[in-house]
Amino acid sequence: MTDRAAVILAAGHGTRMKSPTPKVLHAVGSRAMVDRAVDAAEAAGCTRIIVVAGTHSPEVADHVARRLGRDAVAVQDPPLGTGHAVLSAQSALEGFVGDILVTYADTPLLDADAFKPLFDARVAGADLAVLGFEAADAGAYGRLLFDAEGRLSRIVEAKDAAPEELSVRACNSGVLVAPAALLFELLSRVANHNAKGEYYLTDIVGIATTDGRRVEARLVDEAVTMGVNSQAELAAVERAFQAARRAAFMDTGVTLIAPETVHFAWDTAIAPGVVIEPYVVFGGGVQVEAGAVIKAFSHLEGAHVRSGARIGPYSRLRPGADIGADAHIGNFVEVKNTAVGEGAKANHLAYLGDGAIGAHANIGAGTIFCNYDGFHKHRTEVGEGAFVGSNTALVAPVRVGAGAYVGSGSVITADVTPHALAFERGPQLEKVGWAAKFRARHLDWR
Ligand code: UD1
Ligand code: CA
Repeated sequence: MTDRAAVILAAGHGTRMKSPTPKVLHAVGSRAMVDRAVDAAEAAGCTRIIVVAGTHSPEVADHVARRLGRDAVAVQDPPLGTGHAVLSAQSALEGFVGDILVTYADTPLLDADAFKPLFDARVAGADLAVLGFEAADAGAYGRLLFDAEGRLSRIVEAKDAAPEELSVRACNSGVLVAPAALLFELLSRVANHNAKGEYYLTDIVGIATTDGRRVEARLVDEAVTMGVNSQAELAAVERAFQAARRAAFMDTGVTLIAPETVHFAWDTAIAPGVVIEPYVVFGGGVQVEAGAVIKAFSHLEGAHVRSGARIGPYSRLRPGADIGADAHIGNFVEVKNTAVGEGAKANHLAYLGDGAIGAHANIGAGTIFCNYDGFHKHRTEVGEGAFVGSNTALVAPVRVGAGAYVGSGSVITADVTPHALAFERGPQLEKVGWAAKFRARHLDWR
């Protein structure tokens, strides 16, 4: 297969977002838009990926560098148009021989499936393949203009278009594929004599066809090409993403009782047969195995829920929560960085952080793993089959041995021997008849 690279454009100002956060670092499905673009390029088989960032948002460059290294960032300074943006990546791709996919960092619904027809067109002999769509309202999009034989001949930007060209509904998504050498050769010939005074990437289509090159358009569903320029558009894209994920999960056999109330992340993995009740939110990094039930109003992030486990209602699973097979995590229980053994139960009101709970242990209501001393986090271990009574504070680092009992209301600061009973509370005092005498002193009683 021909080698593939990607150039992802992200140097626009994103002013309409009106946010101190750079546009492409806003998330869709809990994944920064620029990462979604990189994911899509990787899934399409691009082995070299260059993100073109502007000097106005060093956070974008830093973000990309953390994932792909500094070499993956090309800086466009100043931004002089989409053609100029692609040219800014030329030196970073020096020596690359193969096809280049050009795409945007602010179109988070595009995936490898959308790019595939372009690479297929290249394999079938096209020199340049452009991704387009039929727009419901073509608005400001560039228009795809076809010749008498129905071949793509030119792209005209809305601002430069003649009235009859504006009536065309076939639009440019901005995504294209071309061999590296040809792409940069065509770009070197693009001028900026147009309404915006910019170097348009889209001009390479007309130049190529004039040269006698074979240029082809492939159309995708408009919804897939949706771009984000404002907060409202970000929300619209999120809505579309969620709708697609819900449909996909139901398709694979996941039961969603009220699908429109469940929010997924880009990487949520749920096995067929899992039941998700209404109002459940998945942050990134959650895996749910077969037979598990996620009850209403639960929030999960970075958690692994093993087969047959029951979560919620009102549970919170944070990163590193690993809930064993058939374990129960109930209402107002927060689990973080803690493995909960098979069949263990923590059914009510607990904080279980930085620890491990053995199989079939029972964690009473109000149990707190006191993991933090203001400086460091410490571990709590509860052994297999142990029983921790209600309202127990386990002051970490501490271990409760297998099979041990901890009496309710204890503050446990020392390890508990396996199969022992530990409790820590003042002796119970009793004054016989005290209540009756007390009431008698208060004459207005009753
Ligand atoms: C562009 C296309 C248009 C297409 C539309 C689809 C051109 C000339 N026009 O128009 O045909 O219908 O996208 O949405 O290509 N960017 C840079 N550097 C720049 C300018 C832009 O990196 O100097 C990036 C932006 O961050 C953005 C993308 O390129 O991600 C598109 O730029 P934008 O200004 O939104 O292009 P449009 O005018 O919408
Ligand atoms: Ca745009």
